[in-house]
Amino acid sequence: MSTNQFGKQGWTPERIGNLSGKTYVITGTTSGTGFEATRILLSKGAKVVMLNRNPKKSEDIINTLKQELGNNINVLNIDMDLAEQASVKKAAAMVLEQVTRIDALLCNAAIAQVPTRKLTVDGFESQLGVNHYGHFTLQGLLFPLIEKSKGRIVTVGSMGYDMGLKTIKFDDMNWDKDYTPNDAYSQSKLAQIMSIYEIQDRLKKAGKGDIKAYACHPGSSRTSLIATSGGLMMRIIFGLMKLSPLTQPAENGAYPQLMCATEEDLDQSSFYGPTGRSNWVGPVGAHHLEPHAKDKAVAKRLWEVSEEATGLKWNI
Ligand SMILES: NC(=O)c1ccc[n+]([C@@H]2O[C@H](COP(=O)([O-])OP(=O)(O)OC[C@H]3O[C@@H](n4cnc5c(N)ncnc54)[C@H](OP(=O)(O)O)[C@@H]3O)[C@@H](O)[C@H]2O)c1
Repeated sequence: MSTNQFGKQGWTPERIGNLSGKTYVITGTTSGTGFEATRILLSKGAKVVMLNRNPKKSEDIINTLKQELGNNINVLNIDMDLAEQASVKKAAAMVLEQVTRIDALLCNAAIAQVPTRKLTVDGFESQLGVNHYGHFTLQGLLFPLIEKSKGRIVTVGSMGYDMGLKTIKFDDMNWDKDYTPNDAYSQSKLAQIMSIYEIQDRLKKAGKGDIKAYACHPGSSRTSLIATSGGLMMRIIFGLMKLSPLTQPAENGAYPQLMCATEEDLDQSSFYGPTGRSNWVGPVGAHHLEPHAKDKAVAKRLWEVSEEATGLKWNI
């Protein structure tokens, strides 16, 4: 294992300074790593805009955060369902009305291991639609303000990128054939990660190297992910895993995205997450990424397919 640039303990939020004046936009904060990331950003004085699909849960979360951090926290919720392109577009327009800068957009929300094939209202396989296309559109629409702010795009991927087909199924993006929960989840997370490295290349080519894009993952963290969207068998397996040292608290799972959102001089060509056993737990830092996640021809085609599917042309 290579040496961690942040020392033996890896990256921790103690490295974050005062964030007052900074604005972070984050998806999926009603539980898990998104909630923990929001709590830590607010505790450092940042303004946080949360994008969530469940208004009641969002209200409860704001109350919880206020109880812990005080009534003066600068937090705001905008309703957004990543499963509906129209909802993403509406939410992005509201974000642009509400904030004057975006220091980082944290693409954290996801569904995983959906037991049977489902389609979103836009006709996308649900994991591809929520995790990849939903965030692709959000990123593209918020990009002009991120650019103006010299901000960052941070994508929360998964080690699952390496546990499926290890490429994009261009001839059957929505899994009309051979659907399995794991392969479809894996493809959606691979697509998210590949898009980040593609954004980097496009930014460089456009001479916009001062805007950054990062890919990271939370390892294996004790969150609501499998309970919310996974099938019975996965819930049992993950329930047992939660009892083992192969999982970590949700707070630790938030560290990679917080690092990518706030740390100065972070190499964007790396992939960030826990560096311990199987990259599931342990000190946070850069670690190995399998080459298929940076396959240029696949990434370029994925970008074109994503622009066509969402109807959103990025303005890089
Ligand atoms: N936990 C792990 O071990 C693990 C491993 C690898 C990768 N990840 C990644 O880590 C990230 C965070 O997941 P987590 O583990 O913290 O799971 P989580 O506790 O289930 O949190 C997921 C969040 O995403 C939101 N969400 C789901 N579908 C949405 C939609 N259509 N529109 C808007 N928001 C939506 C959920 O909202 P609701 O409350 O409304 O459901 C929730 O706030 C995900 O990108 C996931 O793929 C997690």
